[in-house]
Amino acid sequence: MGDGRQPVDLIVMNVGELLTLDGPPGGRVGKAARDLSIIRGGAIACREGRIVAVGTEREVIGDHRAGRDAVVLDARGSTVSPGLVDPHTHAVFARTREDEFAMRIEGRSYEEIAEAGGGIRSSVRYVRAATEDELLNVGSATLDRMMAHGTTTAEVKSGYGLSLDAEIKTLKVIAELGESHAIDVVPTFLGAHEFPDEWRDDRDGYVSHVADQMIPAVTSRRLARFCDVFCEEGVFTVEQSRKVLEAGRARGLAPKIHADELHPSGGAELAAELGAASADHLVCVSERGIRALAAAGVPAVLLPGTTLSLGKTDFAPARTMIELGVPVALATDCNPGSSMTESMQIIISLASMMLRMTPAEAITAATVNAAVAVGAADEVGSIAPGKLCDLVIWEVDDHRAIPYHYGVNLARTVVKRGRVVVDRESDGGPDGR
Ligand code: NIG
Ligand code: FE
Repeated sequence: MGDGRQPVDLIVMNVGELLTLDGPPGGRVGKAARDLSIIRGGAIACREGRIVAVGTEREVIGDHRAGRDAVVLDARGSTVSPGLVDPHTHAVFARTREDEFAMRIEGRSYEEIAEAGGGIRSSVRYVRAATEDELLNVGSATLDRMMAHGTTTAEVKSGYGLSLDAEIKTLKVIAELGESHAIDVVPTFLGAHEFPDEWRDDRDGYVSHVADQMIPAVTSRRLARFCDVFCEEGVFTVEQSRKVLEAGRARGLAPKIHADELHPSGGAELAAELGAASADHLVCVSERGIRALAAAGVPAVLLPGTTLSLGKTDFAPARTMIELGVPVALATDCNPGSSMTESMQIIISLASMMLRMTPAEAITAATVNAAVAVGAADEVGSIAPGKLCDLVIWEVDDHRAIPYHYGVNLARTVVKRGRVVVDRESDGGPDGR
């Protein structure tokens, strides 16, 4: 029996502070990055995984009713945001590297450990020896932890295989995770992550191998959306990076760059020249590089967890980027070497505490701007009709408490494509209410 109202299959009501992040398409820069488009006393209705209505409770309930078997979630006055988007992870690996972490605490640098055969190359040895099932198990446990902390979309890179077979194996695992896990996975090919042992004496030879052999193998199997490269002193030069990224782009892979992480290496300028989908890290970026990113509209993906985990105290110049008009996004960089965390919440806290991003800027960077950085802003990153119904119902009722109350999980309920995928309340947590 109808009453004129449309039946829907999920309603979230009684939202104290609804952070819609709704606004014009594209990355948010300058003052717009502080505008979360908040509705007070809000509600959301969703059908078949997509949002059909957002507004005040009166507006939404006036036009929509719970259909048969619908789920109605009472937010009890708390904050609701879009599901978090993590636009830079290396979530598929075989083993963790706490041994290297302990060495760094005792004074060895990340680069020294890498030069001695550790670092990325130690992960490569493990990944080459691992089966697809082993990689799938690690990847799936990692995505579970991401989702428990509010992430509903994650970019995942290859780059611990560094041979044609091991890169394809990794990308197949990433594709399988995208199929089997509730999180939406955006796959990136990172064959140019490091020079593997067998190519260290012929670096240009490896670059040609990546460009001429690996990229066609990846694109003919449709295993990636982006092509990334670690442009850094001692790793890929700007010239080598350009060659890899142009080869990727010629076959439909949009470029991304690990740029200016440890030294100013011209990565940001290259990202701007190529119109990259994003330039990531940018701890040592020059002002010229920042201006080039702003002029080209290339989003910056900042990874303060990596700076922290490497024991460094100089963080990426986020304030200058925001002021000069670069769209800033945040990511975990989740990887066993330089940032072993799945939690975008701790990254949001670090962004406020160490990058001096306001709570609103940090939330924008972890939602809509992160979605832009992975080319998914049509689908995710904001709460608006037609978008996927990906939400976090928080334990707090003021978004400023998300960076403020740090080191604990504040995500109470996570909704992915209209389905409750994490419900810590009915699991007895977080506060047993
Ligand atoms: O983004 N910078 C290069 N790649 C990773 C580190 C990978 C590793 O150490 O395993 C990063 O920090
Ligand atoms: Fe990375």
